[in-house]
Amino acid sequence: MTDNDFVAKAGTVDVVEGEVSWKAPSNIALVKYWGKKPEQIPANPSISFTLNNCATTTTVKFSKLENKKEDFSFDFFFEGEPKPDFIAKIHTFFERIVGYCPFLKAYHFEIRTANTFPHSSGIASSASGMAALASCLMDIESKLNPGIEEDHFYKKASFLARLGSGSACRSIKGNLVQWGSHENISGSTDLFGISYPYKVHPVFEDYQDTILLVHQGQKKVSSTVGHGLMKDHLYASQRFNQAKENLNKLKEVFEEGDLKGFIEIVESEALSLHAMMMTSLPYFMLMKPNTLEIIEALWAFREKSGLHLCFTLDAGANVHVLYPSREKEEVYQFIKETLLAYCENGKHICDQLGNGAVRINKTEH
Ligand code: DP6
Repeated sequence: MTDNDFVAKAGTVDVVEGEVSWKAPSNIALVKYWGKKPEQIPANPSISFTLNNCATTTTVKFSKLENKKEDFSFDFFFEGEPKPDFIAKIHTFFERIVGYCPFLKAYHFEIRTANTFPHSSGIASSASGMAALASCLMDIESKLNPGIEEDHFYKKASFLARLGSGSACRSIKGNLVQWGSHENISGSTDLFGISYPYKVHPVFEDYQDTILLVHQGQKKVSSTVGHGLMKDHLYASQRFNQAKENLNKLKEVFEEGDLKGFIEIVESEALSLHAMMMTSLPYFMLMKPNTLEIIEALWAFREKSGLHLCFTLDAGANVHVLYPSREKEEVYQFIKETLLAYCENGKHICDQLGNGAVRINKTEH
């Protein structure tokens, strides 16, 4: 498929106004996307678990404008309040996608969005936020063109979400999503995320993710800046090869249910991501002392208990503890007794694998 496959056909139905609402989850990368080319093309392929509880709900009301405007016409509310900071981000997003969604200039939009997780938690809301908004826009497009097939709906929702925030394209579907062209993954593409097409052992189907909120302040360096620093990075090509190779290795790991192999790849990816940050110019560090305390304590407990918990990190100080649900009781006990002491006010979020974006019917508001 190419970009051209995603240009909306002229609407067949004249819709004057309406409302759509979608809930989309966050995701946690196992093989990390870090580095990109224009327009939102990843420098390396990645794969993630789709989460369930950390999510964004977005409602878009749309009403046809008397005359098509030159610029976009929209209002944006975050948790009930106008949020001027988000206007520029959405404007850029609309500019990037208007070629694929020409109806954006024909309507006024009222966008209302809310997260299920605290917004100061340091959990990136761009993945769930852009996935929810892209799903709403596809819903509007399918009201104007009722013939759109389900497969195309979800592919284009992921394609649009990617243009909002790269990792967002992995939040449309569940529960293991791969994004970025890879010679050994059939159907993989830089344009949108795909459900992992190979066998996955049942042990991975209900994996748990307990997110430890180590530092809830603003990040010093945004992901966008971090991606940019990979452009002239000394280790860039080795890093991109490492990610591809890790995806090769994961194939057997997923098939066999090889938890030891899984742990090694996932932790190595997290540390490699942060190593890239520490070795870029300018260099920066997003881990905090308590991030390291948690990692050390987790390793010691794993050694002692023989359980299969492991950690991964996003572009921040928070730690995601991943473990199979059959070990839930013992691992969560350990988290409560030992790891929560390293979190700000003991804050953490219990999450698990989920199935991606869902439409919300009006009655459920
Ligand atoms: C470290 O998707 O937030 O979480 O495309 O600039 O919006 P933009 O970046 P973003 O980057 C996510 C980086 C990461 C790794 C990952 O999720 O794969």
